Amino acid sequence: MRLSSAPPALKALFAQLCGWGAVWLLGQLLPDGVWMLAFSQAVAATLAAMALRSTRWWLAIHFVFTPLAFAAHALEIPPAAWLAAFVVFALIFWSSYRTQVPLFLSNRQTACAVAGLLPPGPIEVLDIGCGIGSFLAAFAQQRRDARLTGIESAPVPFALSRIRKHPAITVIRGDFFAHSWAGYDLVYAFLSPVPMADVWEKARREMKPGSLLVSNSFGIPGIEPDRVIEVADRRQTRLLVFAIPATQS
Ligand SMILES: C[S@@+](CC[C@H](N)C(=O)[O-])C[C@H]1O[C@@H](n2cnc3c(N)ncnc32)[C@H](O)[C@@H]1O
Repeated sequence: MRLSSAPPALKALFAQLCGWGAVWLLGQLLPDGVWMLAFSQAVAATLAAMALRSTRWWLAIHFVFTPLAFAAHALEIPPAAWLAAFVVFALIFWSSYRTQVPLFLSNRQTACAVAGLLPPGPIEVLDIGCGIGSFLAAFAQQRRDARLTGIESAPVPFALSRIRKHPAITVIRGDFFAHSWAGYDLVYAFLSPVPMADVWEKARREMKPGSLLVSNSFGIPGIEPDRVIEVADRRQTRLLVFAIPATQS
């Protein structure tokens, strides 16, 4: 495997190690001082990340990581606080390091726009990666004829979505790729560019012809949406609507 095509977390680890390796090799040549050490490591790690073709925001992270770690150390915050912060973030973001899908939430206007896509009548809707259930709750308010299911892998968002306790909403903990999407009239995805090709493959394999896959913001490589809806909200959400074809090619 070429390192530049490795998972981002692995590339980040390698860039940081390169930074420390460079500082160690140049040790005698660097001016004295702990901040000079931190800054040199940061520059070297950033250059290594550039060489690994990491995305731009990773470069910014590498540039501030070690100086901020040194600054935090100077504050003498008890180690247990860092462990607690790590545990909280891990429970919220869970497998984001692997799936590359972070947690951000759909707004009410978006749920209203999606709710208008299907004619009145009993409908089954699935939110893949339902977060804290914001989309499901707003959708249920718009469509009292809908039965809604959410699947979420991260423990804290899952627990929060369960607290809502709406009679039309069921939330399952797990990986949405491991559940069947057959039987749903609409599958809603607000994820990231990374899983979209796999999402489309699963949708066209399992969903019934004529049902809809709606992606908030992220396209599917090589597939034109059947419809694009511009939502009149602050973030100018674009909903990409894909109808599942009758003949699965
Ligand atoms: C951007 S949030 C969207 C939340 C919600 N759908 C909304 O629109 O408000 C994406 C969520 O998908 C979850 N997720 C990502 N990959 C997943 C997977 N394979 N199975 C289950 N949940 C997943 C993440 O934990 C995150 O909470």
